[in-house]
Amino acid sequence: MKVITTIKEMQAEMLKQKDMGKSIGFVPTMGFLHEGHLTLMRKARQENDIVTISIFVNPIQFGPNEDYETYPRDFEKDQELAMGENVDFLFYPSVEEMYPNPSTIKVIVQERTNVLCGKSRPGHFDGVATVLTKLFHIALPTRAYFGKKDAQQVAVIQGLISDFNFPIELVPVDIVREEDGLAKSSRNVKLLPDERKQAPTLYKSLEMAQDMIEKGERDPLKIISLVKETIENETNSVIDYVEVYSYPGLDPLEKLEGSIIIALAVKFSMVRLIDNVILEIK
Ligand code: PAF
Repeated sequence: MKVITTIKEMQAEMLKQKDMGKSIGFVPTMGFLHEGHLTLMRKARQENDIVTISIFVNPIQFGPNEDYETYPRDFEKDQELAMGENVDFLFYPSVEEMYPNPSTIKVIVQERTNVLCGKSRPGHFDGVATVLTKLFHIALPTRAYFGKKDAQQVAVIQGLISDFNFPIELVPVDIVREEDGLAKSSRNVKLLPDERKQAPTLYKSLEMAQDMIEKGERDPLKIISLVKETIENETNSVIDYVEVYSYPGLDPLEKLEGSIIIALAVKFSMVRLIDNVILEIK
């Protein structure tokens, strides 16, 4: 595995691979890799000649009171894990390399951001879309892999790829969970021991909602109440949102039908966690 820290070298390497007719599978990450990321890498490995990942904690997608400074980082371990997955190239730029001057242009996401994390984290998706626009131009991927845990991010990136005509296939990959159901996340290490015990309730509440829908419930408000009550009764977390929308359009629903997402975000003492389920309702 080759570690590359400059944009110039990375672009040159990727162009060389493209000229040789190789397909490039790209997994952009912010590091502190876990099984969820490794699953993306494995899928990229199966479907492409070359696998490239990036590790970059992108400052412009964090709000002023968010966890940019304390976001977990462990480059040595990440390197070992990526090597274990036969990654060919690891792009690891500094903030100065990615943002050398005050930017003159940023990407503003117009749709699908006034709900869920977009509402709670103003500017977050502009930061994600801006860094991905740069990373796509640097890594020149054939396919790009993203986890469905960030389902709103996947919907926004689909818009980015299609509106800006990137010749890239987006590959959304299912959420990877701990045995007790908690969605894998780099941020889980910030849960206190008691909170870690409570955190599986997030997924449990979504499973209960799914069960209620399977039994015939079609009222989004009833589903939202069930999820909220379960989380409030069984955890000390503070609910940021529990919402139900069409997916990937993220439009409000009066009645549950078609492809829908039930998504939630909660704050524990030191960390905010998200989770969701996407369901097809006939
Ligand atoms: O999902 C993430 O880790 C980040 O939002 C991404 C896509 C790497 C952009 O910084």
